[in-house]
Amino acid sequence: MLNAAIFASGNGSNFEALVNSNRVNIVLLVCNNENAYVIERAKKHDIEVMMLNYKDVSPLYNETLAYEVMKRKKVELILLAGFMKKLTPFLIGKYPKCILNIHPSLLPKYKGLNAVDQALEAGETEIGVTVHYVNKYLDDGKVIVQDSIDIKGLDVKDVYEKVHKKEHELYVEALDIVLEEFYE
Ligand code: GRF
Repeated sequence: MLNAAIFASGNGSNFEALVNSNRVNIVLLVCNNENAYVIERAKKHDIEVMMLNYKDVSPLYNETLAYEVMKRKKVELILLAGFMKKLTPFLIGKYPKCILNIHPSLLPKYKGLNAVDQALEAGETEIGVTVHYVNKYLDDGKVIVQDSIDIKGLDVKDVYEKVHKKEHELYVEALDIVLEEFYE
């Protein structure tokens, strides 16, 4: 099985879904938030955690450190799952077509932070989730899979619940597509 690293900064429900999917061997969690619940999840699964401190050093420095660890652990795929820092061209260049991201909108609509809230504020009745390859722009790059969610009549809590459920399914679906291409 291919070795992968997950980069995440928060709760880590997507991290959990990816680990439990057993599609790839998750060998590393890269995290920039010491209070993130995803750290507990990684410990529970015995997955090494690498903390990056973006307060005192540059993103490039951090990515260089992460790259050294990923090289040692033979990481071939990077899965961004709620990582709240934009990658620099350095790491993107080291992993061409091998960095994926999940975003809770029908990209190219509603890029950036709080995408679901942006869509709700705009009065959308259909929102969605996208998994895409990462390029140097924010929430850009070739779409791997995208699916919509009908949210007519739902309250905000139910909308988020539906979005997360869809994310967990879609990220695994995207992995299957990417792995098939990888082994072609
Ligand atoms: C998800 O909504 C994902 O689409 C976005 O960040 C959130 C992470 O959620 N990029 P979780 O930490 O995986 O629960």
